Amino acid sequence: MQPKNPLDPIVEDRNSKRFARIYDSMNERSERKLRGVRSALFQHVAGNVVELGPGTGANLRYYEAAERVTLVEPYRAMRKILADRVESAHNSDVFSIVDGRAECVPVDSQSIDTVVSTLVLCSVPDVDRTLAEIRRILKPTGVLVFLEHHVGTGPRSTLQHVLTPFMKKYAANCHLDRNTPRALSRSGFSVQTTITVPNGLSLRVSPTWPMAAGIATPS
Ligand SMILES: C[S@@+](CC[C@H](N)C(=O)[O-])C[C@H]1O[C@@H](n2cnc3c(N)ncnc32)[C@H](O)[C@@H]1O
Repeated sequence: MQPKNPLDPIVEDRNSKRFARIYDSMNERSERKLRGVRSALFQHVAGNVVELGPGTGANLRYYEAAERVTLVEPYRAMRKILADRVESAHNSDVFSIVDGRAECVPVDSQSIDTVVSTLVLCSVPDVDRTLAEIRRILKPTGVLVFLEHHVGTGPRSTLQHVLTPFMKKYAANCHLDRNTPRALSRSGFSVQTTITVPNGLSLRVSPTWPMAAGIATPS
């Protein structure tokens, strides 16, 4: 469940606690397949970085070239797990966890080299507002590094529409049926590099959902 005010920095309820608790084991199989993709994406991550919705910290291990990484994680239960992992990371001093949301990131305009969003644009309440916020904080030379599942076609998309209300309730507001590639181009982002995701996202009990990954720049 999202908070009453969609910009409140902290979300805390029973469903989000449960989701945080099961998140890593639910994603285990998929994560094994995504490791190569995450690693390829992080070749493009450098400088002053903001990561939106880092969750339990799936990306922490890939931050080798970043000077500073601001982690914006509004779900308290996710944030607890994240904080423990940051603390035990060998480069823990580059990370800071801040209050905020993807639609409202507490950093100056045009101050960020790289924004990282992996499996987050499906969850934010307002994807257009989030993409506008990413544009605001990126330097003119900055890049958005993304890895996102999105709506498919045919019967798969019907199933995604049917499952979305359930996912929104129990899986951190995840919209399975969001057309994220279209949202990116609607918001004036152009994809410069595409990284193929060999198998889409498949959780323990779900079919495979199509995914898009790459590097986008605001035009
Ligand atoms: C499916 S998890 C992805 C976690 C992580 N990025 C990964 O790759 O495994 C979705 C994440 O988005 C976060 N999230 C949801 N709404 C958000 C918002 N408005 N702003 C920032 N993060 C948000 C959730 O708390 C959760 O950590």
